[in-house]
Amino acid sequence: MSRSGGEPAQLWTDVDAHLAAMFADDDALQAALNASRAAGLPDIAVSAVQGKLLHIIARAAGARAILEVGTLGGYSAIWLARALPADGRLLTLEADAHHADVARQNIERAGLANVEVRVGVAQETMPALIASQEGPFDLVFIDADKDGYPNYLRWSLQLTHPGSLIIADNVVRQGKIIDDAANDPQVQGIQEFNRMLASEPRFSATVIQTVGIKGHDGLAFAVVL
Ligand code: SAH
Ligand code: DHB
Ligand code: MG
Repeated sequence: MSRSGGEPAQLWTDVDAHLAAMFADDDALQAALNASRAAGLPDIAVSAVQGKLLHIIARAAGARAILEVGTLGGYSAIWLARALPADGRLLTLEADAHHADVARQNIERAGLANVEVRVGVAQETMPALIASQEGPFDLVFIDADKDGYPNYLRWSLQLTHPGSLIIADNVVRQGKIIDDAANDPQVQGIQEFNRMLASEPRFSATVIQTVGIKGHDGLAFAVVL
């Protein structure tokens, strides 16, 4: 995990560990992280307290249908799916078949039956969802390839209804988003995503910076009007 110089990253990590132990200590989720690590997946899931935040928001919103873009080992999917009512469902999209296999095992071990992991690049699976009218979703969590975010946001508008929530991870990227001359396609993707989120009249949105075990980053929150 890269962090810009001079930031108190050790303190952020220590405080995050303290808060995670208090608010988000969970054997099933720890088992999912351990299995993901053992299977060679990168250590880039949302943090424990961020996962708990996703869970609380999904539950407070009464979400019954959730779409996730970017499954990895299913860590955030488990937090989100636990917020669903018994007849609710979570569909999570993942490009990498190995990640999807690990996620399915983690989700099953967590005792969740109402989750579908769908393999394919979201550049194809999201338009297919629109074409097959599988929506609308009450909550969309965007957390896949950062250069894809602008399209994922456009498609999310077609997969939601007024009142739906859109949440996106990694929208600050150690502050790189304030560099107007950035030429990293991932940073450019996030910059365009944030501009769209701010200017699209069908969203009311904000971005909150976060520090912690994931370094300095941010989460975007939008409600569809
Ligand atoms: N939401 C997960 C972390 C996701 S990491 C969690 O917090 O637990 C990003 C994931 O997006 C990786 O598994 C990666 O394989 C997947 N991904 C990357 N590009 C993608 C694409 N174009 N379509 C779908 N998934 C993609
Ligand atoms: C990285 C972090 C993430 O949370 C993610 O979704 C993708 C990549 C990273 O640090 O590379
Ligand atoms: Mg992320």
